[in-house]
Amino acid sequence: MSAIEEIKQKLDIVEIAGQYTQLVKSGKNFKGVCPFHQEKHGSFFVFPDRQSWHCFGACSTGGDLFSLVMKKEGLDFGDALKMLASRAGVTLPTTGRQQEDRNKYSRLYEANDAARDYYYEQLKNAPGAEKARNYVKQRGINAKSLADFKLGYSPTGRESLKNHLIERGFTVQELLEAGLLIEVESGTIDRFHNRLMFPITNHKGQTAGFGGREMDGSQPKYLNSPETPVFDKSGLLYGFDIAREEARKRDMIVMVEGYMDAIISHQYGFTHTVAAMGTSIGERQIDTIKKVTRNLVLAMDADEAGEKAMLRIIEHENTLNNEIRVVSIPAGQDPDEVINNSPETWKQLLETADPLLDFAFSTAARDVNITSAAGKSQLAEKLMPTIAQIQNPVRQAHYLQKLASMINVDLQRLESSLKEVGSSKVYGAHKPPAREIKQGKNLFSSPREEFCLAMLIQYPRLGQKATGLKKEYFANSENAEIFSVITEGDDLETVREKLDSASLEHYERLASRHIEPSGLDNKLRECALLLKESYLRHLLKNQEAILGSADLTAEERDSLLKQGNQVSQELKELFYEKSSTLERMKRENGTDGIR
Ligand code: UTP
Ligand code: MN
Repeated sequence: MSAIEEIKQKLDIVEIAGQYTQLVKSGKNFKGVCPFHQEKHGSFFVFPDRQSWHCFGACSTGGDLFSLVMKKEGLDFGDALKMLASRAGVTLPTTGRQQEDRNKYSRLYEANDAARDYYYEQLKNAPGAEKARNYVKQRGINAKSLADFKLGYSPTGRESLKNHLIERGFTVQELLEAGLLIEVESGTIDRFHNRLMFPITNHKGQTAGFGGREMDGSQPKYLNSPETPVFDKSGLLYGFDIAREEARKRDMIVMVEGYMDAIISHQYGFTHTVAAMGTSIGERQIDTIKKVTRNLVLAMDADEAGEKAMLRIIEHENTLNNEIRVVSIPAGQDPDEVINNSPETWKQLLETADPLLDFAFSTAARDVNITSAAGKSQLAEKLMPTIAQIQNPVRQAHYLQKLASMINVDLQRLESSLKEVGSSKVYGAHKPPAREIKQGKNLFSSPREEFCLAMLIQYPRLGQKATGLKKEYFANSENAEIFSVITEGDDLETVREKLDSASLEHYERLASRHIEPSGLDNKLRECALLLKESYLRHLLKNQEAILGSADLTAEERDSLLKQGNQVSQELKELFYEKSSTLERMKRENGTDGIR
């Protein structure tokens, strides 16, 4: 049981509310003068069976134990949680370890940020950086891009950066750990000399490491920071912190290979671009992207290595649960050259990007002679494992059909060989379904609220559509809390920071719950309507329970009846909305709709 559930189980709302106002029994419920507004007669009710409260007077609001304490004590959810936890004797999950790591890492980020500022300053003003400034100009990078990406210059001196940072209070140990220095026989010296510096930031814009480009033909072309506790290239995307919002808005992200390509993209308005930094794209990067958009367009080199890299990315389509598309870049050119020559051309290339699988087909077909029998079977051998990987049945059928007609083979024969490929060990490497965390049956959880939240967490795009969901439809405060935080439109990391430890625990559980990805828009719409319905029904039920008790003044009775009529009216409207939504869903895709 989670800490939140345990608290709810251990504490009684009647007892807690009883400390805020004097309660008297009224039927099976309790009644008192509202602790939130001035009144003579009691219109504040507590319902022990649902562990909820409601003021039918001027407040006309209600909730559970947490919202009661939040409202009365003026606390946010996290602080109310702490207070009630200590009262219930429940220990909240700690973030102590995370905190420790954060402090340790923050020193490394600070060192890298300070190095970035130093390099930036050098590039802008140092006499020794004249050559670098010319190089930047020659590459077509303007002053705004320089500032946006904080490009810099590492001077030639052996210890220029080191001296600068030590004066500012960093220790040699910290600078070594941040990857800014290297050890030599005589001690430690700067890692980067005479290079154009590209700071690589994490999603928050903290500098995690650097790429340094030579400008005189020395090797390597790019010298990068070593792996450090904060720099792991496989988890970072160059430019992501700047591109994120734009990618979210456009519901699309473009991935290029190099720093230069990303910078020039941004400079010409393609601000939804990130760079993979030459590494193969990993699961963590796809996860990062997935939180912003599911539409990924790749713009990689069309050379052999680039092709191979792109083909490997096919496996991520299942993670994204969407088709990845590929830009065909004119041979021998980098995106930065294409864009510098003609941004319009680049715009068109992005718009006409082909599905990655079509690209895989044409690449495979190019290397074989499909008019010969041998060529046909070669092509099938190449493509069948890829087709077997596709989890979406409609798309799989589409590509199977495509292959069948390319090699002029009966579709059924391919289908049966697909089953073999699919079940063989080598190719049947489907990803296991997301782990579903088992939960004990619990009095205080609401499966529907949680299902709804899990969808919103895992598919943030859904939240952008008006679902008509409101915070108050969530009867459980911990769910209402998560709902309000995730609808603020922050990235995942910020959401995590905003949530207190117990809510975070709850959130993580929802985030890892398995959600069948089909028909999500409809499922969410349905869920939202049902939550609203149950909210209104409870409201009505509470009102009826109160009307049933004898000790009401005529005035109170009147006002309650009025409120009751209003709620009934809303329920009626909801009923019509539900049936028309049901009709629409049926028309759209033949689902069963609302049950
Ligand atoms: P490219 O060689 O295509 O570099 O490598 P680029 O960014 O287009 O640079 P220009 O246009 O030649 O100046 C693509 C990416 O691969 C990584 C870098 O992240 C680079 O941006 N790379 C490349 C390295 O890390 N080290 C290398 O030696 C080369
Ligand atoms: Mn390039």
